[in-house]
Amino acid sequence: MEIGQIGSAIPLQHSRVRTSLGSITPTLSENRMFILGMGFVGQSLARKLHTHGWVVSGTCTNHVKKQQLEDMGFHVHLFDANHPDLNILQLLKSYTHFLVSVPPVMGIGDPMLQHEELVRSSLVNGDLQWLCYLSSTSVYGDCDGELVDEDYPTKPESELAKLRLTSEEGWSNLGHYLGISPLIFRLGGIYGPGRSAIDTIIKQKPLSEGQKRRKYRKYTSRIHVEDICQALMATVYTPSCREVYNIVDDDPAPREEVFEYARKLVEKKWPGFKSESVEQKEWSIEKTSTRKGEKRVSNGRMKKELGMQLLYPDYKSGLQSIIDQIQSH
Ligand SMILES: NC(=O)c1ccc[n+]([C@@H]2O[C@H](COP(=O)([O-])OP(=O)(O)OC[C@H]3O[C@@H](n4cnc5c(N)ncnc54)[C@H](OP(=O)(O)O)[C@@H]3O)[C@@H](O)[C@H]2O)c1
Repeated sequence: MEIGQIGSAIPLQHSRVRTSLGSITPTLSENRMFILGMGFVGQSLARKLHTHGWVVSGTCTNHVKKQQLEDMGFHVHLFDANHPDLNILQLLKSYTHFLVSVPPVMGIGDPMLQHEELVRSSLVNGDLQWLCYLSSTSVYGDCDGELVDEDYPTKPESELAKLRLTSEEGWSNLGHYLGISPLIFRLGGIYGPGRSAIDTIIKQKPLSEGQKRRKYRKYTSRIHVEDICQALMATVYTPSCREVYNIVDDDPAPREEVFEYARKLVEKKWPGFKSESVEQKEWSIEKTSTRKGEKRVSNGRMKKELGMQLLYPDYKSGLQSIIDQIQSH
């Protein structure tokens, strides 16, 4: 898309126009969310915002997905870290809310902030009033099993976790530069319908590298996607006083325990289902048994300051709701 065409990418009936004198002419919807990275969380939030009457646009990396998302009613633009089309910056400045949901990329860093100066100059006089970066609890590193709140010193260990922390700092600086209070959400392992231990078992999918690494951990923080959306919605409607929030549930149970529970749920729902493959094929990898990355992440600030009552305080309630939503074969 050419820059000249970009203005027309926001539905006119929902746009606001900033005049040359700086005043704002509202035309219907005040709330416009741009989601950089319409992945699992991004799409879930997009659906929720749509039902609340928001204009929602976002990005993905390929044409097939773009079409699928457009069929769902979203305005979608292609954006890929490896050959970024920065025309979207011109579009972005007309949005009131901006969620960053793309992960850092090895060898590149943050896909958007690699062009930080351009991002700053493009957004500086725009309409943005809310900016949230989805980060990860990996920025804390290995904490010897301690209880980790948001004031705990960050000590990322993997290259990706270091890039994650750099991204946090970059987005935080940008928010302050633009005069808005940035939000950093440090998420635990994300699960929900379509992405859970139940789905892995049913689809007989191999474990991802991350899942394998985390298999032997005593604690693994996780969070249901609907609770992430709940936290995001809390901050879009009520300004929050802090910048960093851990977004995790109450029960950092070991992954093995979660899979065992998921397997029982599957076998109860579909008696005779053979779920041996995941454990036998994939989980028989050599135990490294290091306690690397061990920490119990505290969600006290999230609950107290965002007024959050978790829909799924533990993996049992989360998995139960997921299996209840799956149609019987
Ligand atoms: N999964 C977890 O357990 C977990 C835990 C903590 C934090 N996080 C982080 O939280 C955020 C949201 O998680 P999620 O599960 O919703 O992520 P996700 O489903 O993987 O979605 C990530 C989004 O970023 C886009 N993206 C990925 N690489 C990109 C690149 N190189 N250039 C441009 N765009 C790129 C993807 O594009 P496509 O739509 O085209 O794929 C997708 O829209 C991510 O940053 C994730 O890393 C995840």
